[in-house]
Amino acid sequence: MILVTGATGKVGRHVVAGLLAAGADVRALVRQPLLAGLPNEVELVVGDLTDPEAVRKAAAGAEAAFLLWPSYSADGAAPVVAALTEQVPRVVYLSAMNVDDSQPAEHNGVWGAVEQLLVESDADWTFLRPGGFAANTLEWADEIRHGGVVAMPAPQAGRSLIHERDIADVAVLALLDETHSGKKYVLTGPRVLTQEEQVAAIGAEIGKQLRVEEQTADQARQAMLATGADEAFVGPAIQYWESLVDDPEPVVPTYTELTGRPGRSFEQWVHEHRDSFRVLSTAEVATEFVEGFRTGDFARATRVQAADVVRVAPSEYDGELVGEAAIMENAARSLEGHEITGVDILGPLVSTDHFAARFTFHFAGDEPETTKLSLYTVTDGQITREEVFYLTEPVN
Ligand SMILES: NC(=O)c1ccc[n+]([C@@H]2O[C@H](COP(=O)([O-])OP(=O)(O)OC[C@H]3O[C@@H](n4cnc5c(N)ncnc54)[C@H](OP(=O)(O)O)[C@@H]3O)[C@@H](O)[C@H]2O)c1
Repeated sequence: MILVTGATGKVGRHVVAGLLAAGADVRALVRQPLLAGLPNEVELVVGDLTDPEAVRKAAAGAEAAFLLWPSYSADGAAPVVAALTEQVPRVVYLSAMNVDDSQPAEHNGVWGAVEQLLVESDADWTFLRPGGFAANTLEWADEIRHGGVVAMPAPQAGRSLIHERDIADVAVLALLDETHSGKKYVLTGPRVLTQEEQVAAIGAEIGKQLRVEEQTADQARQAMLATGADEAFVGPAIQYWESLVDDPEPVVPTYTELTGRPGRSFEQWVHEHRDSFRVLSTAEVATEFVEGFRTGDFARATRVQAADVVRVAPSEYDGELVGEAAIMENAARSLEGHEITGVDILGPLVSTDHFAARFTFHFAGDEPETTKLSLYTVTDGQITREEVFYLTEPVN
């Protein structure tokens, strides 16, 4: 059995899929099981990765673990790594390409610090050191969806962005085969593209003319901080991108050497993620949302929800809930002590900017089913409002 942390993330989801495809038993440490959207075969352990007790419990009996550290600070990492390596003999850690072995660990940011903790532990380790993820370009998705001008510093920065599934493929190899222990794998995509060329590739995929507008470092800094980016990340990131104009990222052959296959191209990644860069029609939003629920892939469903989606349900509470976190908190609270065994969905019925779906939830034991009808408002390709009408008593 393999423990996967960050299993709902960009790399972790592919790690889970790869392990299951290889026939491994998988356990995932998740914070929000209702939102995890992982395959049914995955055993979910609920807990926070920064809580050593939760990690100890999740790691019990695992043969190997996939670890990421979800912060730009290593504060709190030592007891977590200790709890993990007490239980698990082998850890594959998602580090980063900017770790430089010629520098002391403290010069290598959070990644160097966590690597050092693993080196000092009793566990065997493999370090994956990828460069920039292709998914980083999702930061441009809003500008591309709603306009066509992408503002950024250093448009000529050359990057060998990597498809997250390539990282996961290597993680799976290392998790299943101990001969990768003690290895540090630098991983990149197969080709360097400037940021401007990346934008052009996205435009070509979605058939939209896009333009890049260069920001100064200070404009970029303000814009990133305004969207909630981590202060510890912003300064070094901008400096790094500027350095890549004259000195682009390398392309390394590690992925092909380990798997025998060429790395996936940025264009392939863009093709797979094209819907993130265009405004979906109401019918497309409705299908994504309802099919996400139908197949248990809640991440697919919530992807088409606006961050500040409003939910109105007079039978459950007064007023409105705003944002996914508040909505999930309410769902978790009202479902506490009730075990859902199945959901039947009728719909979607779609109009110009609305759709409706009827959900019937079945519960374990003698508990009666609950049926509700939801009417969704779609604005600019995202669900912005849900109004809920119960046909039976809601659970609470
Ligand atoms: N982006 C890059 O270019 C790049 C390059 C090199 C290395 N990296 C490293 O890659 C890692 C991120 O990987 P990713 O992009 O696959 O992840 P991601 O998509 O950012 O998702 C983060 C994952 O970690 C989980 N998580 C976050 N905080 C948690 C907590 N306190 N307790 C439990 N789970 C928690 C999230 O779960 P929830 O579902 O609960 O949110 C999610 O599964 C980082 O360590 C980053 O430094 C990134």
